[in-house]
Amino acid sequence: MFQYMITGGNPLVGEVVVGGAKNAALGIIAAAIMTDDVVYIDNIPDVRDINVMLEAIQEIGVTVERVDRHAVRIDASTIHSVVVDDEFIKKIRASYYLVGALLGKYKHAQVALPGGCAIGSRPIDQHLKGFRMLGAKVDVNSDRIITQAIDLIGEHIYLDVVSVGATINIMMAATLAEGKTIIENVAKEPHIVDVANFLNSMGAEIKGAGTDVIRINGKTKLHGTEYSIIPDQIEAGTFMCAAAISRGDITVTNIIPKHMEATTAKLLEMGCEVIEFDDAIRVVGTLRQRATPVKTLPYPGFPTDLQPQITTALALAEGTSVITENIFENRFRYVYELVKMGADIDVMGNKAIVVGVQGLKAAELSAPDLRAGAALVLAALSAEGLSYVKDIEYIQRGYENFEDKLQLLGGNIKIVAVEDIGSTTIGDSIRPIKIYK
Ligand code: EPZ
Repeated sequence: MFQYMITGGNPLVGEVVVGGAKNAALGIIAAAIMTDDVVYIDNIPDVRDINVMLEAIQEIGVTVERVDRHAVRIDASTIHSVVVDDEFIKKIRASYYLVGALLGKYKHAQVALPGGCAIGSRPIDQHLKGFRMLGAKVDVNSDRIITQAIDLIGEHIYLDVVSVGATINIMMAATLAEGKTIIENVAKEPHIVDVANFLNSMGAEIKGAGTDVIRINGKTKLHGTEYSIIPDQIEAGTFMCAAAISRGDITVTNIIPKHMEATTAKLLEMGCEVIEFDDAIRVVGTLRQRATPVKTLPYPGFPTDLQPQITTALALAEGTSVITENIFENRFRYVYELVKMGADIDVMGNKAIVVGVQGLKAAELSAPDLRAGAALVLAALSAEGLSYVKDIEYIQRGYENFEDKLQLLGGNIKIVAVEDIGSTTIGDSIRPIKIYK
């Protein structure tokens, strides 16, 4: 058992290089098994969820060659099973992409029900609706999604909710369906466009990714490709928020600034200086930033995956901010931890009312999920004194070398074994946790 030991209080300053997008890579690795030719993928982040996905496809016979830390060669001509059910795949959300990929290619898939961060009920009804409309029979038992089709036939599908996962999954299956598929009310996140570009580079015919309507002309076969994954918008946004939280000065490089517009807008409203370059953004925090409202929305709205990080910045801003979480109903669990640190936040339904305080106090913290975990690390780095953040395996699901990158920015953070802590007193007097309505 490991945890972060953090001595906070100094501004984070310097340059940080962002890696490949985890959520694009998850879809792309699944899509890579849809051809029997060799696929080379570069700029893959070396994070836990990706490694689980790579192991899962190896379990069903795919040959995965690690070219280097961030590149793999995938050969799916050796697949011997359409049943993906190993003990690790159950823990990640993106296991569901293997349903779309295998159903498209083999017209049959049996995949463990998805796990992932506990941030809400996270139904998959829209994925299943799409598969059914394409002509597949779909059964869900207590631990597996089982789907089979004689043929997949293109259809006109309207998604009742805007879903990243359903959009990518249906797009994959429809790529190898017969005829035309139109999917309406789709998600427009950069990683949707990246997965569509990847599939197109394999010979698929997908148009409209990044808009509300995706049109697909089905193909009988896909071919090999070489592809480089886009930079991770959420990792970039996390470091942009880190500049605000630590009142530092961080240049986030290897990014696509256009993907960061919602985050940039909010940081500007808070009074940060934000300077855009071709493939980088510099964020300069001020001594006291201003409150601002934030509402999470599908892209191009403010991403739910940056909600805990911006809330942490607003916990230190002047005035009262209202944060509305519109995507996942259980994404404020980390607020308990911030309150332990002296933040003044009340959660009412899907809103957090944040009254900014001057500073946070060191504390012993626990990461409830991936993004909230990252936010708590940044909170601890801003707080004078010694903090610990445990359950860091959540953070390692989606951030590569998080502690190393923060150290390069001047953060005093290291990984220690839980038993190494000894009898250190954490923080000073801790304000009682507020009663939640
Ligand atoms: C993806 O999750 C990401 N995960 C999440 O990233 C991210 O928070 C989320 O999109 C939103 O951007 C991956 O890409 C692996 P959704 P996903 O389907 O696909 C509802 C992170 O930290 N919904 O877009 O599961 C759902 O309940 C993670 O990297 C249905 O009702 O999200 C939610 O309210 C966490 N029925 C909304 O839609 C469905 O069939 C959006 O979910 C599907 C979704």
